[in-house]
Amino acid sequence: MSIEHAEQDTVTFRVEGKIAWVRFHRPEKRNCMSPKLNRQMMRVLEQLEFREDVGVLVLTGEGTAWSAGMDLKEYFRETEAAGLGAMRNAQREAYGWWRRLRWYQKPTIAMVNGWCFGGGYGPLFACDLAFAADEAMFGLSEVNWGILPGGGASKVATELLSFRNAMYHAMMGENIDGKTAAAWGLVNESHPLDKLEARVTAVANVLLKKNPVALKATKDAVRRAREMTYDNAEDYLIRAQEAANSFDNHGRKEGMRQFIDDKTYKPGLGAYEKSR
Ligand code: COA
Repeated sequence: MSIEHAEQDTVTFRVEGKIAWVRFHRPEKRNCMSPKLNRQMMRVLEQLEFREDVGVLVLTGEGTAWSAGMDLKEYFRETEAAGLGAMRNAQREAYGWWRRLRWYQKPTIAMVNGWCFGGGYGPLFACDLAFAADEAMFGLSEVNWGILPGGGASKVATELLSFRNAMYHAMMGENIDGKTAAAWGLVNESHPLDKLEARVTAVANVLLKKNPVALKATKDAVRRAREMTYDNAEDYLIRAQEAANSFDNHGRKEGMRQFIDDKTYKPGLGAYEKSR
């Protein structure tokens, strides 16, 4: 039997030990993204972004899917029936929260527990890191139902995969499992589903020990630098570090002091003690 979730129930979250676990929550629809879900996800991201008790955000899915991509009924068919204005609005809502996530204040991790299709590649790429279950299945299924991989999906494939793999993946409409996704660079790592959360928690806990100003500057630097010439990147990185210093000059100096003067840690082997 089909259950219709209220808009606010399409996304759930809990905050534990400074990690915000955010879930796509339409398991009966394999967490496909409807306009309702897209609106609710934006609200949740806004609510969590600057909370003091949140240091890392993990995006995962309830049930057997991470996200089965865009909702063919509610996102495509019904908005198309409502006209161009409705379509553009639905696109803005979806792309809007993916963009918000790409430039999110806190480090973000996609924990891909199951199906990940088409439009799901938008939030997958938006997350800074991605860890998949071996059992997860990734696919650019668009060609199977007669469209191109839109909503950024083709761009994500070309950003993350080799040209040959991107082309094969997009044209063939075949799925790859988590292990292949890791081998192809679509995700960082893949682990058995029952070990996935433990690995993601461990990664999040490492990030929580780092200087948050440095992390935000770093993640933006990596995203921005990919599209810059070497000279532009060199210049941007100088300015970005100088801007970061105005947010937190103490951390940087403390990091230098604990290494050079106190000799209590080595930056090559771990992070400085933030609490000092
Ligand atoms: N859009 C709309 N509805 C979707 C959906 C999507 N992207 N993905 C799943 N659903 C719905 C199904 O229509 C079904 O609804 P119903 O219970 O009202 O019949 C329900 O979710 C469960 O899906 P079902 O296909 O029975 O689950 P499954 O576990 O057997 O298969 C998938 C899972 C993901 C393989 C399959 O649902 C699928 O192919 N979905 C489409 C994936 C896709 O192409 N997405 C790209 C969109 S750009």
